[in-house]
Amino acid sequence: MSDLSRRSFLGTSFASLATSKLLAQDQPAEPKKPVEPTKPAEPKKSTEPAAFQPNTLFLTWQRDPTTTMTVQWIGVSSETADTTIQFAKLSEAAVTTAWQSQQTATKPYPLTDFKVFRAELTGLTPGTDYEFHIGKSSPTYRFRTMPAKANDTIHFISGGDCGINSHAIANNIQAARQDPMFAVVGGDLGYDNGRSVEVSLAFIRNYSQHMLGRNGRLIPLIPCIGNHEVDGGFGKPRDKAPFFYALFDGLFPETSYTTLDFGDYLSLVLLDTGHNTAIGGAQTDWLEETLRERRDHPHVVAVNHVPAYPSYRSMTGLLGKAGTGEENRKHWVPLFEKYRVPVVLEHHDHTLEAAAQRHGPRQRSAVSGRRLMGQTSRAAESGKPAAPGRTQRRLPLVVAPHSRPGAIPSGP
Ligand SMILES: [Fe+2]
Repeated sequence: MSDLSRRSFLGTSFASLATSKLLAQDQPAEPKKPVEPTKPAEPKKSTEPAAFQPNTLFLTWQRDPTTTMTVQWIGVSSETADTTIQFAKLSEAAVTTAWQSQQTATKPYPLTDFKVFRAELTGLTPGTDYEFHIGKSSPTYRFRTMPAKANDTIHFISGGDCGINSHAIANNIQAARQDPMFAVVGGDLGYDNGRSVEVSLAFIRNYSQHMLGRNGRLIPLIPCIGNHEVDGGFGKPRDKAPFFYALFDGLFPETSYTTLDFGDYLSLVLLDTGHNTAIGGAQTDWLEETLRERRDHPHVVAVNHVPAYPSYRSMTGLLGKAGTGEENRKHWVPLFEKYRVPVVLEHHDHTLEAAAQRHGPRQRSAVSGRRLMGQTSRAAESGKPAAPGRTQRRLPLVVAPHSRPGAIPSGP
């Protein structure tokens, strides 16, 4: 991707996963600032109940981000009587008839009495600012749909291996300052390990509070699965990642890998590096079909957790093939090369690594000439605090129009 702009910023170390209260704020931080309503709000009487303001509210996608938006939060049914999402274009929000509503569906949140509240807003206008609120008592929030065409720069944040401590929060704040259109978290979100509801909630609380763009716009989250979403890490069934699928089964309804297509200009291919689904076999067959179908798309970006070419860990490893990239190199790299995937976003190693790409038809690897730009702590894997000076990084990424190199050959 010739116009890819990379800029690193300091951020995360991993420790202190304990939280004290499940839905209480566990980090001292400024309260979330909702978008100002279009009309000045009437002063509320002191006897009125506090506005409904769930501290786990966040946005994600299940389908085309140019015309849909999914609103989610975790809570209990008794918190507010009306969980309907009311939404309108920002430019029309002052017109009462411009507001639409969408009912919220609920489903259990694992190991708790909490529910996941979800509403998918559809039929939206691309590239448009919207306001929404929950029922009649919440603050007014804001989101923006992705543009219909990539006529201008598309910019987003990619990162992974986040954790929930103060460094993760600082990283979120720094990421939000870039005002990305969305954020990709490529596995190992909070390090709940499929077991800790406290950690899973803390990650979402932190994201909800700090991942706000300009004017309070909520920045949508697009995840893929990592080993720390799964009890056991690798080669476990779907029910071993209960918190991940409770929140993201709209994007991953049946498989642990999927594609999110942005109109006709960007496809994120979200892969599973052997946590719920083996790399080879059905997932690789699906990947080839997915890349073949999109060979004429201008931008196809793959996202996976374990890197094909570890820059910190051994390429052979102590636990067999899991986590070494061996299966990626065997099954996926040839496909990335064949279909000229310009960018593969990889995580897990807590290092910042920029990899140049070659597209020679006979080259063994699609990734070569990589530069290790920063080394980060292995603390998340060891459970120990991060060593000073070793930090995890996130990459602000820019997808410029028509940046995919070369034409993709037609045919199978
Ligand atoms: Fe990992």
